[in-house]
Amino acid sequence: MRDGTGSGGWRGWRAATRSALYGTDGEGGSGTGDSDARGFYRRPEGPAGHFRTSVHASPLFATAVARLLCRVDEALGRPGTLDFVDMAAGRGELVTGVLAALPADVAARTRAYAVEIAGRPEGLAPRITWLSAPPPQVTGLLFANEWLDNVPVEVAEVDPAGVPRLVLVRDDGTERLGDPLSGAEAEWLARWWPLPAEEGLRAEIGLPRDLAWAAAVSCVARGLAVAVDYGHTADARPPFGTLTGFREGRETAPVPDGSCDITAHVALDACATAGADAPGPAPLLTQHAALRALGITGARPPLALAGTDPAAYVRALAGAGEAAELTAPGGLGDFAWLLQPVGIANPLPREPA
Ligand SMILES: C[S@@+](CC[C@H](N)C(=O)[O-])C[C@H]1O[C@@H](n2cnc3c(N)ncnc32)[C@H](O)[C@@H]1O
Repeated sequence: MRDGTGSGGWRGWRAATRSALYGTDGEGGSGTGDSDARGFYRRPEGPAGHFRTSVHASPLFATAVARLLCRVDEALGRPGTLDFVDMAAGRGELVTGVLAALPADVAARTRAYAVEIAGRPEGLAPRITWLSAPPPQVTGLLFANEWLDNVPVEVAEVDPAGVPRLVLVRDDGTERLGDPLSGAEAEWLARWWPLPAEEGLRAEIGLPRDLAWAAAVSCVARGLAVAVDYGHTADARPPFGTLTGFREGRETAPVPDGSCDITAHVALDACATAGADAPGPAPLLTQHAALRALGITGARPPLALAGTDPAAYVRALAGAGEAAELTAPGGLGDFAWLLQPVGIANPLPREPA
């Protein structure tokens, strides 16, 4: 037994996911018999060994984030020190790309941080500070790409009597229903994801994500906090939840044994409310709209360029292909950007209706 939850290794999905993804040796999942018992995200291959985020899809993503940082810089009045925080940094790929994409004068004033549970990768630029929690008093941009979906959550399921109960799981992925929900989790569910009394309906209880996001936003003294993730809002919750796994590029059953990623879409409207200092509509944009506003489009280069400068044409064509992937409907373009300005105006416009 390593769960402390009682008999048979049953525990809630939150604790099971926490040790499967982030456990240290001896604590992370070991159900596969894999000799590497560390949590999935502490393993040497990093997230990029198992799936492509926007960061890995194209350097244009870092270019867009660098442009956003420049907008924040302007809104802040070009401070002597401008912070960029890559929250849940993986192996520091985004912060590295952003530093490379910034104009020299902005780069010179930028203090760069990577915040990550996993250890600092070898070869990362010495100017990037590697931390396990965001620094306090950020003046600049805190950017979290695909973080919140990996903050572990409990799962609820409606029983035959119509009562939402906690779902318990073993390391091999077998599930059974536990106690009826109560306390803060029941309140969160009632407010953000009320489950009709229909057996089998499920929801992920986003409370730990709300708290994590609110804590991250509170580290920004002035500037902007952005979370980019696949998500849903109250008008369109998925009836059976979205808990799933990823291993080596493929979607797989979510088995909390450390062998795969475990992820669930994010209730971003709830996070938005938790991170806001005043009530108002959730400041959400699609990635398609956000990247367009930052000058990243999938438009093909003019054919005439092929005649005058074939190499430039081929380069521009490749860039257009990458931009199309980042903004594709049904793919990365449908990701949501949650933008929470602190002491400045929102530097990105709302998506047109
Ligand atoms: C899906 S990966 C995304 C990596 C990177 N942002 C990207 O877009 O490629 C999620 C990352 O979040 C990290 N993570 C999860 N919770 C964290 C926390 N509380 N603080 C710092 N990093 C965290 C994981 O270790 C993992 O590297």
